[in-house]
Amino acid sequence: MSAWNRAALEALDRDDPLAGFRDQFYLREGLVYLDGNSLGALPRRTMPRLEQVAAQEWGEGLITSWLGAEWITAPRRVGDKIARLLGAEPGEVIVADSTSINLFKALTAALSLRPDRSVILSETGNFPTDLYMMQGISAFSGGRVRAEAVAGEEVLERLGDAVAVLLLTQVHYKTGVVRDMAEVTRRAHEAGVLVVWDLSHSAGAIPVDLNGAGADFAVGCGYKFLNGGPGAPAYIFAAGRHQAAAMPVLSGWMGHAAPFAFEDGYRAADGIERFLCGTPPILSMAALECGVDLMAEADMAAVRAKSLQLGRVFMDLMDEHCGAFGFALVSPREDARRGSHVSYAHPHSYGMMQALKERGVIGDFRDPDVLRFGLTPLTLRHADMLEAVLKIRDVCETQAWDDPRWAVRAAVT
Ligand SMILES: Cc1ncc(COP(=O)(O)O)c(C=O)c1O
Repeated sequence: MSAWNRAALEALDRDDPLAGFRDQFYLREGLVYLDGNSLGALPRRTMPRLEQVAAQEWGEGLITSWLGAEWITAPRRVGDKIARLLGAEPGEVIVADSTSINLFKALTAALSLRPDRSVILSETGNFPTDLYMMQGISAFSGGRVRAEAVAGEEVLERLGDAVAVLLLTQVHYKTGVVRDMAEVTRRAHEAGVLVVWDLSHSAGAIPVDLNGAGADFAVGCGYKFLNGGPGAPAYIFAAGRHQAAAMPVLSGWMGHAAPFAFEDGYRAADGIERFLCGTPPILSMAALECGVDLMAEADMAAVRAKSLQLGRVFMDLMDEHCGAFGFALVSPREDARRGSHVSYAHPHSYGMMQALKERGVIGDFRDPDVLRFGLTPLTLRHADMLEAVLKIRDVCETQAWDDPRWAVRAAVT
């Protein structure tokens, strides 16, 4: 038997320094939400703020709000706030576009700094958009750039003179494995290779120290652990030392040195603003800022400690209650190698996740057979781990996964 009975877990919740954060989110009573790594929960402060932006700033202020409500500086202002979560300096992060678009910008900027090299390297099984953006750049380059993906454990061996840029996700979206950012960056730099880090499952989930690791470029999502809302804008980091020479290929007017001079010729802005492209989405930006502000109130060391504890509790409870049902742990058991989600492979994982959702436990399914459970320390209680695992056991015991409604997969899994 594991030590995690209800009383022990409730005792952990009483001593939890982050317990107060849960009330700052809307969460349906009785729901165990283990998907904050796909779409973070709605912070209570976001609704009134959106109302204010729409009714006052847009409705009343109209176009004067670009200055009057400081809309024009929002990408940089929110970027500076995110920078603090990433170990970056003010002026090194800007909020813009989607993570996919920012991958394109970061990769092409890195390529512009290594004109004599031709390979973008990544690992097989990286998040698809990362691989697809590499492939798109390669196709567009007409043969100058080659996209190459090798098995994760072979990435460092493949570094060499031909490689311009290495693209890796720090916390793997499926397995939750954490890459050693400082070590990988050091090895890449030794080979003259620049690194683009995808921090989508890192920001707000684990402590990140971009400058401590000597990182070159990074990108990440605003809608996951940062709780910025569905389709929230993403962010891009460019180390200060690279900014002057890194040429934006997506040379939109918002990244121009003087957007309102309306010049015919493109001149890149001096700093991180050169990574802006078009007009920022102000409503979405306002929601993201609420999520980032809330995250910034939490002590990241406490967030990491609770995230790891939630993971340990969840895995122990799975061993105890579901050990007989054929789950294979996909994530590392060792704390140091695990991010803030825990995944299991199971042959009936798709139907299982649908049956769990009907029972008030939301996680997600990742092709081909993975159940992924996101552990968000600001919203979850330790006792929720037991609720979730008991529901998983119930789905297994009753074979509730075996339902014709789930014979065909939905468009979003
Ligand atoms: C590692 C990683 N990169 C990128 C994305 C998504 O990028 P976008 O916001 O452009 O859809 C995700 C989404 O889950 C992700 O997990």
